[in-house]
Amino acid sequence: MSVKPYKEETSSKKQQVANMFNNIAGKYDFLNHFLSMGIDKKWRKKAIDLLKDLKSPHILDVATGTGDLAIMAHKRLGANVTGVDISTQMLKVAEKKIYEKGLETFIKVKEGDSESLPFEDNTFDAVTVAFGVRNYENLDKGLTEMARVLKPGGKMVILEFSRPSAFPFKQLYFFYFKHMLPFFGGVISKDKAAYEYLPESVLNFPDGEAFDAELKKAGMKPLKREKQTLGIATIYLAKK
Ligand SMILES: C[S@@+](CC[C@H](N)C(=O)[O-])C[C@H]1O[C@@H](n2cnc3c(N)ncnc32)[C@H](O)[C@@H]1O
Repeated sequence: MSVKPYKEETSSKKQQVANMFNNIAGKYDFLNHFLSMGIDKKWRKKAIDLLKDLKSPHILDVATGTGDLAIMAHKRLGANVTGVDISTQMLKVAEKKIYEKGLETFIKVKEGDSESLPFEDNTFDAVTVAFGVRNYENLDKGLTEMARVLKPGGKMVILEFSRPSAFPFKQLYFFYFKHMLPFFGGVISKDKAAYEYLPESVLNFPDGEAFDAELKKAGMKPLKREKQTLGIATIYLAKK
């Protein structure tokens, strides 16, 4: 089931997702680190380190948002990174951060939709996405496009929320995720729907084996799946 952020609106999921991220862009980084208690940085590091065998790669970071994964890919791998996103306001924050860090030669960002990527076939050594795929309107189309622009043998790394299963952590976590997070997220971002959409979209999104099946459908070969922090998030590595 595809979950939309603003239930009373009739616009497409893609339009709603772009609006939602435009609304919360200014508070996104703070809320990310605050609500995850900083663990999101460790997850991004681990995701990028799965590409350590690539020498000065050219990476496409899809759904780059405010650019944290793109910046990390440059720092840890010496990569040249192209970042794309459908939210202009998220990209503005990314551009400011990249400029302040003096990384504009190595990291370029532009508007672009994962379901119709503005690049030739077989362009990139790796494609990365952190917390983006769950927001796609058409997951199959998004993954197929990402596979298309990868060079043969190229790697795809996806970091996405998943659902912990161990008692009692699962119960405690879901209480936090369904009740406390929407409260704090709503008060700070002033967009309560955005932080209600977050748990709802995670609960309705394929994880683990089911997500590997989606990767296979898009023509990718799953290589590795690493649960993070008792399964709150999972990193998927696949090869074209
Ligand atoms: C939760 S943010 C993640 C941002 C960043 N990757 C990070 O790790 O913080 C999700 C991003 O996905 C973007 N997005 C959603 N659907 C997209 C699509 N079809 N193509 C490109 N970007 C998309 C949103 O605009 C948003 O910036």
